[in-house]
Amino acid sequence: MSANGDTPLLEVEHVKQYFPVKSGVLIDRTVANVHAVDDVTFSLREGETLGLVGESGCGKTTLSRTVLRLLDPTAGRIRFRGADITRAGRRAMRPYRREMQMVFQDPFASLNPRKRVAQILGAPLRQRGVRGADVDREARDLLDRVGLMREHINRYPHEFSGGQRQRIGIARALAMSPKLVVLDEPVSALDVSIQAQIINLLEELQDGLGLTYLFVAHDLSVVRHVSDRIAVMYLGRIMELSPAGELYDKPIHPYTQALLSAIPIPDPRENRARRRIVVAGEPPNPIQPPPGCVFHTRCPRATEVCRTVVPPLTEYAGGHLAACHHPLNVTREEIAAATISDASPETAGQVKPDFVPAGEGGDERAPGSGGAAAVEA
Ligand SMILES: Nc1ncnc2c1ncn2[C@@H]1O[C@H](COP(=O)(O)OP(=O)(O)OP(=O)(O)O)[C@@H](O)[C@H]1O
Ligand code: SF4
Ligand SMILES: [Mg+2]
Repeated sequence: MSANGDTPLLEVEHVKQYFPVKSGVLIDRTVANVHAVDDVTFSLREGETLGLVGESGCGKTTLSRTVLRLLDPTAGRIRFRGADITRAGRRAMRPYRREMQMVFQDPFASLNPRKRVAQILGAPLRQRGVRGADVDREARDLLDRVGLMREHINRYPHEFSGGQRQRIGIARALAMSPKLVVLDEPVSALDVSIQAQIINLLEELQDGLGLTYLFVAHDLSVVRHVSDRIAVMYLGRIMELSPAGELYDKPIHPYTQALLSAIPIPDPRENRARRRIVVAGEPPNPIQPPPGCVFHTRCPRATEVCRTVVPPLTEYAGGHLAACHHPLNVTREEIAAATISDASPETAGQVKPDFVPAGEGGDERAPGSGGAAAVEA
């Protein structure tokens, strides 16, 4: 359901977040910028989960903090329920703050060890206007809601396990009755068995409370079953954005394909039989992103155009977006029917991708000579 007619809950348009690199003894001079988020556009419908995936340092947390206005964007526009909050000050943000909450990766670091659960949950409840005995009652209800015992309200964070602490982190976010919850790697610090329990809890809460999630993860296996759509990020930019099932069945971007091939398959025989694409080396320095396609230094399909022209974010059928000059898994007809998206970076070229037949780089092989990735048998 949309927030207001067809208005998405959150709209992010061409957002940039650059961090200045300073130098100088007496006068701080900006000598360069870290391009942490570089022209990102997406929107979130109410009740939807968008998975945001990419390697460490690609800008997931910075983008999350920017869309929540915990950081001032360097450029671009952010709308929440249709209202422009890009430059909203503290006061103007107050009504929206409550509706946008964040759950962090490390539940231990994000909870004050000196405060009991009653205080951890009491503070946001009071901020929301809950008073007197209702604070204790609502705090206990929240514990119940996230699968913890009501009587544990007087415990300290260290008296809980990692998974239980993350439940407290979720309860704290829910105390504000949010609409949008940004989950920044909420299960990355937990054991695999506990991860599934927390993901199930998040899904139940979403169904019960009509929440909208931006779900950040560094690999595609975690977000697979929770996401309606998935955005793949690399060096501050969106490489591919697609309905979730389609992204796994038919990745268009070589980087997505490499991330997918890294997910282990439960059947060991099938796992051994398939080809694994290893993206060699480290991501480039975000202070000096490579020209053209930022992935070209590691891409097995890179050609000359990749090194010079930023590939436009191209929209294929079914709302599947990808920024690649030599896309995978699309036919000549699908490319002909595709259009350059409004979400395309402003610096991108205007030439649509070309068709590379399978066997001439249509699989994992390069149409050109560039790139450092390798295909393992
Ligand atoms: N306050 C800051 N000042 C300068 N650079 C920063 C700042 N915060 C983040 N960065 C840089 O911005 C880039 C993106 O960082 P970010 O933390 O958003 O990545 P991430 O995708 O969340 O990584 P991870 O998976 O490790 O959490 C990195 O190069 C990081 O070093
Ligand atoms: S083929 Fe070119 S445009 Fe596509 S991901 Fe590789 S380097 Fe980038
Ligand atoms: Mg992060």
